[in-house]
Amino acid sequence: MTANSAPYTVLITGASSGIGYELALCYLKQGAKVFVLARSEEPLAQLTQQFPGRCVAVRVDLSDADDSQRAGEWISQQVPFLDLAILNAGTCEYVDVNHLTREPFEKVMAINWQGTVNSLLFCLPLLRKKILHEKKSSAQTAQLVGISSMASILPMPRSQAYGASKVAVEYLFNSLRVDLVNEQIDITLVRPGFVKTPLTERNDFPMPFAQTTAEAAIRIMRGISKRHWLVQFPWPLVWLMNAIACLPLRAQVWLLQKISRNAKV
Ligand SMILES: NC(=O)c1ccc[n+]([C@@H]2O[C@H](COP(=O)([O-])OP(=O)(O)OC[C@H]3O[C@@H](n4cnc5c(N)ncnc54)[C@H](OP(=O)(O)O)[C@@H]3O)[C@@H](O)[C@H]2O)c1
Repeated sequence: MTANSAPYTVLITGASSGIGYELALCYLKQGAKVFVLARSEEPLAQLTQQFPGRCVAVRVDLSDADDSQRAGEWISQQVPFLDLAILNAGTCEYVDVNHLTREPFEKVMAINWQGTVNSLLFCLPLLRKKILHEKKSSAQTAQLVGISSMASILPMPRSQAYGASKVAVEYLFNSLRVDLVNEQIDITLVRPGFVKTPLTERNDFPMPFAQTTAEAAIRIMRGISKRHWLVQFPWPLVWLMNAIACLPLRAQVWLLQKISRNAKV
């Protein structure tokens, strides 16, 4: 494990399934100590059994401020600092504009937005402690990673709740870059396209260029180790969506209406 490519102490939220689980597995295989956070006991227990001593399971509902604070305090007692925190926990609910209800907005914002904020509240002090610690030895920076989505760059159909939550996360992370500029905490935003996970299993529409969690984890970890500000994949979707995003809003909306009608989204 080299100092630059694989952090020693990693914290991953939403590590009980999908992208978070795969990332946890990969960092553990690389020899890191990994705190895995989620509500589900079973998958976290599987990880701790496979990597006793190095994998630490923390059962927590990150949408709950008190539960998150308790979890954060407990983690702070277990390690002096974090090298890397990946705020990945999230969900997706689609909105039916013909039957608008509060529910999808509340569900999505509770974890994608409030859960990210609750996690940040205990992760940032632990990342700052890494800097204080490293000042005494070498000069390696700490790193904060947010998992956004390609959906954040275009007004996608039925994504009024999900897209808004990811735009909010991106704003939060980008504005943190401004305030943390002198603190040696690198910030990375990840925008995955479609990844085959329990979250997307529910999708009833085609998912172009869908990737496996293993493929996604490789891309995310590569971007993190290179300390990229923005990690986007897969390239065909990145190219297509960014090209549409360059068009005037009227053209974007017209195109997205056409695409979604054809794909029956
Ligand atoms: N899959 C994709 O195509 C895709 C694309 C773009 C972005 N993303 C983003 O990638 C992230 C991971 O998604 P995924 O596809 O891997 O989904 P997933 O398999 O459903 O995993 C979501 C993770 O979040 C955790 N979580 C949800 N609510 C939580 C809560 N209240 N407290 C603590 N943990 C909670 C879940 O654990 P518990 O249920 O056990 O708590 C689970 O570990 C999400 O932020 C998602 O928006 C995914």
